[in-house]
Amino acid sequence: MQILNRLEETRSLDPVVEKLQAAVSAAVKPQRLRDLLHGTWLGHALHPVLVQVPVGAFISSGILDLLPGTRRAANTLVFVGVAGAAPAIAAGWVDWSQMTKDRQRLGLVHASANAIAVSLYAASLVARLRGRSGRALSFAGLSVAGLGAYLGGHLSYARGAGVNQAAPALARIPTEPTVVGSLASMPEGKPFVRNVEDVPVLFYRLGDRVTAMIEACGHETGPLGEGDVVGSGTDACVVCPWHGSVFRLTDGGVVHGPAASDQPLLRVQVADGVVSVSV
Ligand code: FES
Repeated sequence: MQILNRLEETRSLDPVVEKLQAAVSAAVKPQRLRDLLHGTWLGHALHPVLVQVPVGAFISSGILDLLPGTRRAANTLVFVGVAGAAPAIAAGWVDWSQMTKDRQRLGLVHASANAIAVSLYAASLVARLRGRSGRALSFAGLSVAGLGAYLGGHLSYARGAGVNQAAPALARIPTEPTVVGSLASMPEGKPFVRNVEDVPVLFYRLGDRVTAMIEACGHETGPLGEGDVVGSGTDACVVCPWHGSVFRLTDGGVVHGPAASDQPLLRVQVADGVVSVSV
């Protein structure tokens, strides 16, 4: 853990990080492609889904390599793993390009370990196609892939990369209705921020209907209350000022990434002209 903490603070990696970030941004420009790779259409980060293919194929091939009479099946799985790594790598780099610097430093080491692992498996595949065993290269690849997976798990579970950063704020909203104010005091068709307990909440009113969502962007907690509004009425969306994620104001739905999840909504009640919210 001390090594990982030190890696996150290793500023000497920054020139490489910045060059790679520019390269990824230049290589993956169309918004549709970025949304596809972020998993915005899925409501969930796509990278952890895609990595199941190479990881599953590589582990399975390793088991078959230890059994007699399964050489052909093992070779096929090594091919599936190498081919399946490409989309997982593309999705990973696009997510990485929009992370905070400390996560990017660790993510760079995660990606490097996985690049070495896939190269070892590719070399193993070539050896197998030439009639050689290729098993030593595969097992070396599996060992390095294990390190890459450990770093990926640390990035997500210990450092929160790829998770909905707005979700913890929802847990601080009271379960009992909390009065926010009168409906008449709320501007029509223009989002505004009010605190519920200590949590900033973004409100949007259309007639008698009020939507309330956590104001901190689910991607990296950018202040949505400071974002631009595009469209109007039921089509109105807020654009996060930090990395440009777009959310519908009427239901918190994510329209464009890098955020992959909808903004968490609060339950809203309007009774006798008074607006209350609860979790
Ligand atoms: S914080 Fe990154 S898009 Fe909002």
